[in-house]
Amino acid sequence: MPIETWFPLAIYYEDLPDAAKHQQSLIKAVLQLEKEAIEPRNYPEMAWTGDIHGVNQIHTHPAFEWIVKQVEQHVAAYLQDIGVDLSKVDLYIQRAWPIVSRSEQEIGAHSHNTAHISAVYYIQVPTDEMGDPGSLVFFNDARVNEVCPGLGSENTDIVDSDNYLNQLYAAYPPVEGRLLIFPAKQRHAVTMNETEELRMSLSFDIVVTATGTAAGVYEFLTPPPPQWKKFSG
Ligand SMILES: [Fe+2]
Repeated sequence: MPIETWFPLAIYYEDLPDAAKHQQSLIKAVLQLEKEAIEPRNYPEMAWTGDIHGVNQIHTHPAFEWIVKQVEQHVAAYLQDIGVDLSKVDLYIQRAWPIVSRSEQEIGAHSHNTAHISAVYYIQVPTDEMGDPGSLVFFNDARVNEVCPGLGSENTDIVDSDNYLNQLYAAYPPVEGRLLIFPAKQRHAVTMNETEELRMSLSFDIVVTATGTAAGVYEFLTPPPPQWKKFSG
């Protein structure tokens, strides 16, 4: 008896051909930004993330020009793949920041709630194959096949076979030079870097707005920021 599956989550990735050429300059720029960061916060078990250290505008920094172009090009391709008419929307990088994960550091579960699409680019990935270098894990919060709420919970102990129809998460091990794109609302985490080496990546948050010319689209799309008025007070 066949079982058909529907409503797949769309995760896009591309291994950028020029990655090696740009690797050293990106590493240098990120380490410099980490050193200069304001408001240092010391959570030894958490990776260093620029967004909570005042380093969240790398999209305007000349050292990141190449990767910003790549993000723009591949996010447009992703949106076309999921059926978006690019002539009716404008795309903005809202914020972008580096992540440096040293040994035994991780990133807890979260979503990027102020954005629509998120992208991550892996500048440097540990080569030590003895441990997980810190995988990006997407959680299946929709659980469309969980016929009783909580059925998959560890407390019930009812699910006796893990398979693709009851999968609770999908893990993407990092790959050097890979750009990965996903819906910003999809909850995710990064597992612990079990190696002794450093993992370095960049994170981008992208917002989709109306172009300002298509009538009737504002019901669902944010009007273009140039049309906004900031409170004068
Ligand atoms: Fe994230």
